[in-house]
Amino acid sequence: MDARVGQLDTQSLRSEFVRQGAFVYLSDFLAPEVTAQLVSSVAAVEPAINRNYLPGHKQGGSVSRHRIDRLAPFIAELYRSPALLGVLEQLAGERLQLSPPNDPHAYALYFYTRPGDHIGWHYDTSYYAGRRYTLLLGVLDESSCRLDYELHTREDGVPVVPGSVQIPPGGLVFFDGDKLRHRITPLAENEKRVSLTFEYVTDQSMHPWWRLISNLKDAVAYFGLRQVFSRKGTP
Ligand SMILES: [Fe+2]
Repeated sequence: MDARVGQLDTQSLRSEFVRQGAFVYLSDFLAPEVTAQLVSSVAAVEPAINRNYLPGHKQGGSVSRHRIDRLAPFIAELYRSPALLGVLEQLAGERLQLSPPNDPHAYALYFYTRPGDHIGWHYDTSYYAGRRYTLLLGVLDESSCRLDYELHTREDGVPVVPGSVQIPPGGLVFFDGDKLRHRITPLAENEKRVSLTFEYVTDQSMHPWWRLISNLKDAVAYFGLRQVFSRKGTP
């Protein structure tokens, strides 16, 4: 990770991030050997996928950080990599912290494996006292799925700018979750897509009421009750 980060022009990436209302896309970020390790991790967690279907909003599979800790520790290490955190802080223009241990979104894998798997338009809303940043890393992409997005939706007097990208294995998207309106378009027949999400925050504190709301949402929409409310996850 250190060598790869050293090659990046972080200043121009930071300018792009600011110009695009706290969003940046890089088609080639991870070193090939890191991407290869992520692909191996996918195989290791596949038995632990939790499928969800919320009509009109999302359909797909996910594996929370609790399962990843046990089944794919490489991902947990990558999440904590000081070199990675350093480059993300340069992009964000502020200090970042890891998400607290009880947040199942801190790092999670998302599986698009059945036709129609998608997630509708949304923000990655922060329930924390500060900002919440999302890093999306492409792991597997044998699909026509796209990340559609809209920039500047919450900025007064700034025109909304729509965009759309595919995130190839090793590619990156990084954004402020409350600023980027986005979706993943539906998977077609005989396609497969796996992406990895890392979440970083500027303040780990959260009011207990918001923690409860956030947990209930995760249980319904993502990981299932057992993964969210059991700290270690269950088999
Ligand atoms: Fe999202």
